[in-house]
Amino acid sequence: MKFNDKTVWITGASSGIGEALAHAFSDEGADVVLSARSEKKLEEIRQLIEKKGRKAWVLPLDLADTESVKTAASRVETLVPAVDILVHCGGISQRSRVHETLLEVDRRIMEVNFFGTIALTKEVLPRMLARKKGHIVVISSVMGKIGFPVRSAYAASKHALHGFFETLWTEYHRDGIDVTMVCPGMVRTNISYHSLEGDGKEHGVMDPRQAGGISPEKCARKIIRAVKRKRHEVYIGKEQILIYLRRYIPCLFFAIVSKFKPT
Ligand SMILES: NC(=O)c1ccc[n+]([C@@H]2O[C@H](COP(=O)([O-])OP(=O)(O)OC[C@H]3O[C@@H](n4cnc5c(N)ncnc54)[C@H](OP(=O)(O)O)[C@@H]3O)[C@@H](O)[C@H]2O)c1
Repeated sequence: MKFNDKTVWITGASSGIGEALAHAFSDEGADVVLSARSEKKLEEIRQLIEKKGRKAWVLPLDLADTESVKTAASRVETLVPAVDILVHCGGISQRSRVHETLLEVDRRIMEVNFFGTIALTKEVLPRMLARKKGHIVVISSVMGKIGFPVRSAYAASKHALHGFFETLWTEYHRDGIDVTMVCPGMVRTNISYHSLEGDGKEHGVMDPRQAGGISPEKCARKIIRAVKRKRHEVYIGKEQILIYLRRYIPCLFFAIVSKFKPT
């Protein structure tokens, strides 16, 4: 299945996995709506996609600002006939231990990764229900399934997405709504640069483990395959082993993660 005649709205489209997804979906025939805060970067990506003969629109939004999410959701209706697939990829990570992290930083991470994501979902879902079809794709993380050093609020925000969207699926799958939860391990993107430290400052460095991750393009290809197959949940990258260890051999999981240096 290609995505001809489908419109895909992607948050986090200005960088990393979201940017790669914007290209991958449009290469498969989809029209794409590109959202994030950096309008200039989105515009450059839009132009690249249009050069390949596909349609793309720029729709800036800030996931930490509910009004901006609502405005974007009403503007999208004026741009495209319908959103067939909504990809929640916008997010920020963390590099700080629990006792070093200000509560306002925990809240900021939850605001962007969880509340921003569900705010946008609540805007788009009623229109998907009216059409009796729609696919919501959520870029969670391996850390949406396990705890990991210096990621307390990040892991919490991703775990929360699983609870929310699994419930959403139970409520609406009979109404034509599909949900795919995506749990990547390390992907070589700017995420560690923009991760928040305990006082809210950006981490500002590419962590060695991040640099050794898979490419965003490879990650995007695997996500596209999972979306085509309408998978409920997909794990990507070698770090998925941690999910299986946590589930089936928890003592080994705890022995391994206890030795991780908190970087
Ligand atoms: N890289 C990994 O190893 C990895 C692993 C597992 C899961 N993930 C998840 O994958 C997703 C994408 O991350 P990435 O690795 O591609 O990192 P990235 O290159 O830093 O991209 C993050 C994206 O989120 C957007 N964003 C951040 N804050 C935002 C806000 N307040 N409002 C709207 N958009 C915002 C950024 O755009 P602007 O700055 O322009 O707003 C950017 O487009 C995230 O949800 C992340 O948790 C990443």
